[in-house]
Amino acid sequence: MEVALDTEDLAGSGLRLEIDGAVATITLIRPERRNAQTPAMWRALARIGDTLPVGIRVVVVRGEGPSFSSGIDLRAFTPEGVPGEDAPLPADAAPEEIDRTIAGYQRGFTWLRRPAIVSIAAVRGHAIGAGFQLALACDLRIVADDASFCMKEPALGLVPDLTGTKPLVDTVGLARALEMCLTVRTVPAEEARELGIAQAVVPGDELDDAVRDLTAALLQVDAGAAAATKSLLQQAPGNTLDEQAATERRAQIDRLRALGESR
Ligand code: ACO
Repeated sequence: MEVALDTEDLAGSGLRLEIDGAVATITLIRPERRNAQTPAMWRALARIGDTLPVGIRVVVVRGEGPSFSSGIDLRAFTPEGVPGEDAPLPADAAPEEIDRTIAGYQRGFTWLRRPAIVSIAAVRGHAIGAGFQLALACDLRIVADDASFCMKEPALGLVPDLTGTKPLVDTVGLARALEMCLTVRTVPAEEARELGIAQAVVPGDELDDAVRDLTAALLQVDAGAAAATKSLLQQAPGNTLDEQAATERRAQIDRLRALGESR
């Protein structure tokens, strides 16, 4: 779907998008609120996904200031709400409308798994609630040594609903995910690395360089092979060995055909 992206519109939603060759960087730009998230931000993320130029291979998601993201803007739960924003979930809405509304928000997160790109969350400071889920929506998480993760939703009487529960369970297993979510505890950077949530922990002043180095390494690999391999890996957990072996064969046939056509 082609939807025009307006830089000012994006900024009004708390986001900045920068494109440099094959790399798109999305920055949450509300440091004064620790990059708290709003429905407008989730809709803007979905628009970025809808309009991402062909040829983008790496998407970096980062936050300006000391925190990656403090999660949903808590003013949404006050009678005044967030100035200029609708309530995230209208209290008197029918279940079908709530379902449709949340599905719209989730679209801002799901596209980050698209096979054609590798998404990297560069996390410093807090990643709480929706912030943790945004980091989990990315394929990889490179984190500063002051990073911390907390799935806070149950403490507010809610469930995590921005597509974070599946990657969390896939990564740490059901028992650990349950323990983390239901105690609402904060997981520090080093533990996040041990659990496989973070792929690397680096000193804060080296975070940007670490993300740049990883990006450069990812761009070394042929784009078609990278997309096909990501797709293959994504299918592996849901397949039996026989199914996955067959999927590998089909993917290789496609690769060989693509390589033949490019000669
Ligand atoms: N929503 C709205 N405003 C926020 C949020 C938020 N989620 N997080 C921080 N802010 C605001 C603070 O109110 C404060 O505003 P002020 O300067 O007008 O007082 C400013 O951002 C800075 O926050 P501090 O608390 O002073 O910053 P600090 O670095 O000490 O702490 C932290 C950061 C840990 C993120 C803390 O602000 C916090 O706990 N925030 C709430 C986190 C939360 O419960 N989020 C909801 C998760 S559930 C979900 O996402 C669905």
